[in-house]
Amino acid sequence: MRAFLKNPGSVTEFSADLLILPIFADKKLSKASRDTDRALKKQISRLLDAGDFNGKKGETLLLPGVQNLGTKHVMLWGCGDKGSLQRQHWVNACHQLSRALSATKAKHIAIAADFKTPKKVPNSWALQQISTQLTRGNYRYTTTKKSAAKGLCPIEKISFLGASDTANSKHAITQGIAIGDGINIARDLGDLPGNICTPKYLSSEARKLGRKFERISTQVLGEKQMGELGMGSLLSVGHGSKEESQFIIMQYKGGKKSAQPHVLVGKGITFDTGGISLKPGAKMDEMKFDMCGAASVLGTMHALATMNLPINVIGVIAAAENMPAGNATKPGDVVTSMAGKTIEVLNTDAEGRLVLCDALHYVKRFKPASVVDMATLTGACIVALGHHASGLLSNDDSLADELLAAGIASGDRAWRLPIWDEYQEQIKTPYADLANIGAGGAGTITAACFLSQFAEDYRWAHLDIAGTAWNQPGPKGASGRPVALLCQYLQTIGS
Ligand code: BES
Ligand code: MN
Ligand code: ZN
Repeated sequence: MRAFLKNPGSVTEFSADLLILPIFADKKLSKASRDTDRALKKQISRLLDAGDFNGKKGETLLLPGVQNLGTKHVMLWGCGDKGSLQRQHWVNACHQLSRALSATKAKHIAIAADFKTPKKVPNSWALQQISTQLTRGNYRYTTTKKSAAKGLCPIEKISFLGASDTANSKHAITQGIAIGDGINIARDLGDLPGNICTPKYLSSEARKLGRKFERISTQVLGEKQMGELGMGSLLSVGHGSKEESQFIIMQYKGGKKSAQPHVLVGKGITFDTGGISLKPGAKMDEMKFDMCGAASVLGTMHALATMNLPINVIGVIAAAENMPAGNATKPGDVVTSMAGKTIEVLNTDAEGRLVLCDALHYVKRFKPASVVDMATLTGACIVALGHHASGLLSNDDSLADELLAAGIASGDRAWRLPIWDEYQEQIKTPYADLANIGAGGAGTITAACFLSQFAEDYRWAHLDIAGTAWNQPGPKGASGRPVALLCQYLQTIGS
């Protein structure tokens, strides 16, 4: 999709397939909407007066086949009550707009962008969200179901008419598309089945990024090299699998040479059977999504390279497949991590932390300004927070606050849980330096406690995306979260 800012003499003469008119609950029309109303012989005013359209958040009404306009159709789009408008409301309204548009055949959309949002929902941000969400709405999974592409009519072009503050707005709409594309990359990787999206598939996608962007260079370590580094914990997870584990490093250099990099680490379990601690059969197919943390790293790297952000970012992916087999790791086995700490694997289904701990130790060498890991780590996070917020745990209050704020600003929210010392007691064992599961509840916290022991030397945060990385309950599909949060976080650092 491409986006343009246009300032036509008259909105009514602008030619496109469909014209969107944003209308707030106060039903006051912008100039563009008033002009359109006049050309439509007051049809819009009549609908508003009759209460047939009220400008409620996300409400849409299609006026098909209108005359006297440059566009074939008009869609009224409710933006809610201005006074109480929050960013999350706007994101949700954009979502609903995108859904309504996907039911039309419109390829070139025009939108009256001469509306005024309240201060706490800045105009340029609001335009960026429209770009992101309409780009997001163009996504369909088609790799193994070609017929899903049939009758599909993606939006190819969107023209923002009469937006104020042109330079800012222009920047916002192009960045919005870059973020939307990044989200869709993450969704597509997540949606791919485990027999296609293997650890090697992830590394080939990472190499592709390195070829596509001059500022990204990719390096991949196989099992032999990981063995030489002493990544015994990561390697123990892929033992039972025929697929070779991969350790992927993507370096994006957009900032000064001397600027410390920000590191993103993704859990890339391309399928999680649970291993010898086998998961029950129901919904086990969803464990193809267990690489969504890795997918969010790839999507975010793509977005930030497209946006050309002036910072240094390193994306790291720990990829493996967790399978039961004769040579698979067994409960009670003790493995040695790259940090030298021994780990008793009490449950082979707590494998995410086993791959992440070696990645977290590895990234120390970059002297990072911050490290954020993303992982579909614990079912307990779904119990705690459901599907609206990702879990956030951190050893640094300022980093945690930055990420929480980025979550609110992007409509991709997180909520913080503590990692107090008292919880660390739960992962002690007589047989090793630490156990990979903790008795006594708080599963999301004890998992983060485990990780924190490998992230002591830098500002670190962990996002548990078990509840947010894919749509639960259906319709089945990866959500692309937390790409939007990460992009917002990196944009703020870069500005
Ligand atoms: N990938 C799962 C976590 C998960 C489960 C994410 C369901 C989304 C939906 C993870 O590897 C796992 O199996 N965690 C275990 C940990 C337990 C054994 C301590 C869990 O949450 O049950
Ligand atoms: Mn597991
Ligand atoms: Zn897992």
